[in-house]
Amino acid sequence: MKIAMAADHGGYELKNILRDYLEGKGHEIINLGTDSPESVDYPDYAKACCDEVIAKRVDFGILVCGSGVGISIAANKIDGIRCALCPSKEIAPLTKQHNNANVIALGGRFTAPDEAKAIVDAYMAAEYEGGRHQGRIDKITALEK
Ligand code: RB5
Repeated sequence: MKIAMAADHGGYELKNILRDYLEGKGHEIINLGTDSPESVDYPDYAKACCDEVIAKRVDFGILVCGSGVGISIAANKIDGIRCALCPSKEIAPLTKQHNNANVIALGGRFTAPDEAKAIVDAYMAAEYEGGRHQGRIDKITALEK
């Protein structure tokens, strides 16, 4: 798969651990930064990643900030993005199966690397179920400006 990844200073270490992990499994990563502890603003990185998703240049996106909250809020302001903050490997597949999330977000200060890898694996193994969920997603889309 082709995956866009971005993070702020609170998430770049976990983002880079996941980048290395996913590249090791043969996936192609578009790394949109940041790559240092210098303070940056997470909405800029949410936009950079989501632009790749909206343009269909990648299959999905992964965002990481300190908590995962700010960067997911920013991503969900972008029309066409359904970004799911994934705190566990149990929630992760549901975000694909029910919500057809096209971006997942993680908290770099709260999610250990092995748990983060399991979360990403669980999301990637899941498939959107359609059916009764599509009407609900259509209603989400109708909320867009
Ligand atoms: C940055 O200090 C922190 O606020 C950010 O990474 C994120 O946790 C915001 O939701």
